[in-house]
Amino acid sequence: MRVVAPTAETIAEAAALLRQGQLVAFPTETVYGLGADATNERAVAAIFEAKGRPHFNPLISHVLDAAAARRFVEWNDTAEKLAARFWPGPLTMVLPRCKGSAISLLATAGLDTVAIRAPSHPVAQALIRAAGLPIAGPSANRSGAVSPTRAEHVIESLGDRVPLVLDGGPCLVGVESTVLDVSGPKPVLLRPGGATREAIEAAVGPIGISHALPSGDAARSSPGQLASHYAPARPVRLNATDVGADEGLLAFGPNPPAGAMLTYNLSPSGNLAEAAANLFAQMRALDRPGIARIAVMPIPETGLGLAINDRLRRAAADDGLHRRG
Ligand code: TXA
Ligand code: MG
Repeated sequence: MRVVAPTAETIAEAAALLRQGQLVAFPTETVYGLGADATNERAVAAIFEAKGRPHFNPLISHVLDAAAARRFVEWNDTAEKLAARFWPGPLTMVLPRCKGSAISLLATAGLDTVAIRAPSHPVAQALIRAAGLPIAGPSANRSGAVSPTRAEHVIESLGDRVPLVLDGGPCLVGVESTVLDVSGPKPVLLRPGGATREAIEAAVGPIGISHALPSGDAARSSPGQLASHYAPARPVRLNATDVGADEGLLAFGPNPPAGAMLTYNLSPSGNLAEAAANLFAQMRALDRPGIARIAVMPIPETGLGLAINDRLRRAAADDGLHRRG
């Protein structure tokens, strides 16, 4: 790993790494982010790999401003008011994915919504501008560790898992951004953070509080619990070593069983990062009329396989109450 002071040259270098699908840790006003091209499934898979996350939490995509956000989400009047008041700054808005949105499905954990924010830190802004991309960025720490507010914390936590760290000094806000769901008629607070509830309510009136999350600390320790995850409408059968003619097969590795109605292979070469990158798109592609069930081949329980299997087990355990047609 290299730790560099942000200059025009190092920011250009970081932007080039991002465009190549590599990871870069960068300062924001809240905490350091572990950034990747938010439109590149494989680059986003590398974030989860570096963090060692046992499951896929949806990630925030960082953009320059409201105009850029509108290319990826369905904008509305409340979002407009909030952006005018809080952007750039520590407010993340959850909005419906718009038609043609280039944000990776893995970055949103397969959800139909996108969490998006415009950071105010000048280095973050310069990096987004130089890369010409939305940047997916969770906090730049290993899973379960506290969020880094200095470059040293990133180094301690991630070591060589990230090739380049832009050292912008200590983060001024020091807690993560506030996450607000603005996709419905009334905004709902999903995670307390740098933008206060009082200030948000002063801008847009009363907001709801997510009951899924009793406290800010719980929110921070288990952010993935915030979102209801994508569940396929069809039942999911795990550890399939054979397949029926009425089934869709989600294969892994070089020797999938023959005979499925439709087969997608997460990674013919057995590469877990490739499998993670394909997971949500292929689950969606198999979740269609005419297919009775989605059969999934065994995935190794190592590295990114933990997160993939966690996701698949949730999909298989779904009791059907929340299934979509
Ligand atoms: O300040 C921050 O927000 C930092 C800096 C780097 O921007 N980022 C950060 O990201 O804290 P992360 O991945 O640690 O937290 C993202 C939060 C999680 O609580 C996640 O559940 C929520 O945003 N989130 C992301 N996408 C969502 C979605 N589509 N629906 C609901 N919640 C979402
Ligand atoms: Mg985090």
